[in-house]
Amino acid sequence: MAEWWQELFDEKYLTLFAEARGPLHTAQEAEALAALLSRHGAPDDGEILDLACGFGRTAIPLAQVGYRVTGFDLSPLLLEQAQEAASETGLALEFCRGDMRQLPAAWSGRFDALINVFTAFGYFEAPEDNQQVLAEVTRVLKPGGLFIIDLSHRDRVISDYRETDWFEVDDLLVCTSRQFDPISGMNTEMMLWTDDSGERRSVFFKVHVYTATELSQMLRQAGLTPLAYHGALASPPDAFPFDVFSRRLVIVARKEG
Ligand SMILES: C[S@@+](CC[C@H](N)C(=O)[O-])C[C@H]1O[C@@H](n2cnc3c(N)ncnc32)[C@H](O)[C@@H]1O
Repeated sequence: MAEWWQELFDEKYLTLFAEARGPLHTAQEAEALAALLSRHGAPDDGEILDLACGFGRTAIPLAQVGYRVTGFDLSPLLLEQAQEAASETGLALEFCRGDMRQLPAAWSGRFDALINVFTAFGYFEAPEDNQQVLAEVTRVLKPGGLFIIDLSHRDRVISDYRETDWFEVDDLLVCTSRQFDPISGMNTEMMLWTDDSGERRSVFFKVHVYTATELSQMLRQAGLTPLAYHGALASPPDAFPFDVFSRRLVIVARKEG
C-alpha cells in the first residue's frame, strides 16, 4: 500500500495548501531565508539545496537573488510545475526527483546550505527514517554548511488542538478531523470536501510533531549544531522570537567541522 506522502502531493495538495503559501507569504519567507543565510555566513552565490522543494515556491526566489539552487522532491507533478516556473524566469535551477532519505551519492559535501520549509519533515512512521533524513542533510552539506528547517511544533499544536475543524479555500469548505497520539508524537489528519463536480474527496496525512527540544537532539545526533531559533520565517528574522505559542519553529543549524 502506498504511503500518504506518496499520494497527497499532487493536484489535491495544490487545491488545499497552495493558497496557504501564496505569493505574499512566499515572498516574505524567501526574504527571511535569504536574510538568515546571509546572517549565518552562507556565500552570496552559494549552492543551496531546497529539500522537498514542492513547486519551487522558495527555490525560485532564492535563485533570483543570486544563489545557485537545486530543488529535490518526490512528487512528479510538483517538480514539473517547479521546472516550468523556473523556465519562465530564465534562471538555471536544477531539479531532481527522489526520496529525502537517500539523496544522490555524488552530492556528498556539495552544498553551502540546505533549506526544508513548510513542514516537509517528520513524514516517516519509523523514527529512524526521520533521523536518516538529517543524516543525509549532513552528508551533502559542506563542513560548516547551514541547515534551515521550518515546521510546526508540538507545544503549539497541543496548546491549540481541535479534534474537528474547518477552513475555506477558494469556494471549497474543507472539514478536518484530527487525532494526536502522545506516545508516538504523531498527528493524524483527515480532510474532507466536495469538489466542483459534486464528488466527495479526502486526503489523509500522519506526521511526527516534534518539540524544539526533541528536534534539537535529533539535529545534534546528525552532527548539526543548532545556532538560532525563530517563531516564524519572517523578515526581519527576529520579528517573531520562538516560544511555546509560536506558530512555527524555525531552526538554523550548522554542520560541524
Ligand atoms: C508541505 S510540502 C512543502 C513543499 C515546499 N517546501 C514548500 O514550502 O512549498 C512537502 C513536500 O515534501 C515532498 N515529499 C513528500 N515525501 C517526500 C519524500 N519521501 N522525499 C522527498 N520529498 C518528499 C512533497 O512532494 C512536497 O513537495
